Amino acid sequence: MNGQRNPFNIKATVVFCLLLAGLVLSGIAVELYAQEWAPSWQLPRRDRPANMVDEPITGLGEIPESRFFSPLICSACHTDIFKQWKGSTHAYAWADPLFQALYKKGRDEAKDDEQNAVMDSCVRCHTPVGFTSGKWECGQAPIPSEASRQSIFCDFCHSIKATAGIGNAPFILDPGDADKMDFGTKRGPFDDCPETNHKTEYSELHTRSEFCGTCHDVSHAGSRLAVEQTYTEWRLGPYNTGNPETTVHCQDCHMRQRPGVPATGSTERPDNPGFAATKIVGGLERPHIWTHYFVGGTSLVLGPSAPDPERQKMAEERLKNAATVEILTASTVKPGEILRARILVENVGAGHYIPTGLTEVRQAWLEVTVIDADGKKVYHSGYLDGEGHLDEDAVVYHTVFGDKDGKPTLDVWEADHIISDHRIPTKGQMVEKYAFLVPGDTKLPLQLKAVLHYRSAPQWLAVALLGDKAPTIPIVDMAEASATLDVQK
Ligand code: HEC
Ligand code: HEC
Ligand code: HEC
Ligand code: HEC
Ligand code: HEC
Repeated sequence: MNGQRNPFNIKATVVFCLLLAGLVLSGIAVELYAQEWAPSWQLPRRDRPANMVDEPITGLGEIPESRFFSPLICSACHTDIFKQWKGSTHAYAWADPLFQALYKKGRDEAKDDEQNAVMDSCVRCHTPVGFTSGKWECGQAPIPSEASRQSIFCDFCHSIKATAGIGNAPFILDPGDADKMDFGTKRGPFDDCPETNHKTEYSELHTRSEFCGTCHDVSHAGSRLAVEQTYTEWRLGPYNTGNPETTVHCQDCHMRQRPGVPATGSTERPDNPGFAATKIVGGLERPHIWTHYFVGGTSLVLGPSAPDPERQKMAEERLKNAATVEILTASTVKPGEILRARILVENVGAGHYIPTGLTEVRQAWLEVTVIDADGKKVYHSGYLDGEGHLDEDAVVYHTVFGDKDGKPTLDVWEADHIISDHRIPTKGQMVEKYAFLVPGDTKLPLQLKAVLHYRSAPQWLAVALLGDKAPTIPIVDMAEASATLDVQK
């Protein structure tokens, strides 16, 4: 019997292994794994920080929210860091009315299990402790759960012990227990903290882009479409040199910024000497403290009761040091003939594409205006109507998602493929071509002006989601250039 069964078993094993290999190769096994909250992808072992591990991630409802400390407790000793974080979008990632409106729409419209799973995924990034405690509520203020109210807060980020990879928030948490006044171990960049108040531990992860890449790389939980690729863009870009001495991490731009110091790729990114914790409680004077403003392109943070002018200025400083515009060539000007112009837009300051992240909503665009010697408009592209719609010819840097029927959609849970992606690559350039008729009665010379604008959302979208309560979304001029065009002699 044995003699007959053994060869069969070997064959079965071989067949089984081949099948398994086939499944893995065809991605089916990956898909099954993904449904149990896994990273979107994993780095090759040689590129991983020490605390990027192949271990199960912290799942839904695994850790009660009562184990986490409120940011107010941390603020007692980390006063400056608290003030910086308090104004950031991280502090409002859940309460943010734009997020809430879109999330509610998705919850109301979700058609099946797959779309509901996508809506669960929003929770994991926008209120990570709400997710891991299983306590989050949709919408209306005041938000009952403390963790959801605080969104992405101190004790969440600094209780991250490790990550299982990149994207879709595969963090592994190890908090203390606030109920028992036990801080646990707070992970960060230092390996020499006086541990008078709580335990600390050096975490390589926290010092590298991979930390931010846990969330700033988003794949659709159903279709697996990469919907946000900030970390991937950075990883494939020139700021990731592969050499630890010269690599410019997310933190080097976003956690060195402070008022007056934009810290972009085109400006200096100086150290910020000072104290991480006040001196009285044992904080040491250090050559550099990482700031916690986390400024991106959003100048009006939605959520706080009043706008913060200092923060608006910092977002403007960041955007104004991100790109340049240059008028390359313009053909000979002749009234009655076609004028051709080429405009160069360069990404000189962002560690990723411009825009990045939520690129179906964020927009940068070129406004090109040509006026004649009498001040009469000869050509205009990239202008807004009363509701904030751009003209059809405008050059817009953004992404358009398509749903399963091929129709453009802003509902990220419906996203199935990318219809178009026109953005400025990291340290890359785009040349935009313009051609228009100069009317016969035009008085020369002409003035050509090109302005690169940015808005974190179109006004019409804010109105569609928030109705009368929609604030005015600011438009920031990132860069501009102008030229006088005359008959060539
Ligand atoms: C989005 C995650 C995140 C949040 C939220 C966050 N931090 Fe940090 N924090 C970091 C990272 C990352 C570093 C280290 C940066 C590096 O080394 O490149 C850091 C550094 C620190 C340090 C070391 C000193 C320094 O700044 O260099 C302290 C202390 C600290 N954070 C406290 C806090 C407190 C208090 C809060 C809440 C008010 C907070 N953090 C919120 C990610 C976060
Ligand atoms: C009673 C004062 C006190 C409180 C409360 C406190 N800390 Fe600290 N923390 C310190 C001191 C002191 C240091 C050491 C600073 C130094 O070495 O310069 C420190 C260091 C840190 C570091 C750096 C760790 C490293 O190895 O890089 C982090 C991160 C941190 N704290 C996070 C937090 C968080 C999050 C909270 C709230 C849950 C918190 N702390 C509450 C006093 C406090
Ligand atoms: C737990 C997930 C998570 C982690 C970890 C995280 N972020 Fe974020 N981040 C978010 C979310 C969600 C938002 C959007 C919040 C909103 O506006 O609703 C955001 C917003 C931002 C913004 C503001 C973007 C804008 O449009 O102005 C910046 C900048 C940013 N993060 C940088 C970082 C950096 C740098 C790190 C790493 C040190 C990091 N984040 C870590 C989830 C995360
Ligand atoms: C070399 C400096 C630099 C590095 C490195 C960098 N950024 Fe940025 N970031 C910028 C600048 C400049 C802007 C403003 C222009 C823009 O909005 O794209 C920005 C904007 C953003 C925004 C707002 C998105 C938008 O376009 O509206 C997010 C989110 C962000 N960064 C996250 C990250 C993350 C995460 C990393 C690391 C993976 C990172 N950044 C690395 C400079 C940098
Ligand atoms: C893997 C993490 C992750 C998941 C999952 C995720 N987001 Fe986000 N979300 C982010 C990050 C990071 C940003 C900031 C990017 C930027 O500023 O461009 C963001 C920004 C946003 C914003 C912009 C807020 C503002 O005021 O500008 C909205 C709205 C949003 N997300 C909605 C959603 C919805 C709805 C879902 C679920 C269908 C979702 N997100 C799932 C990470 C995530």
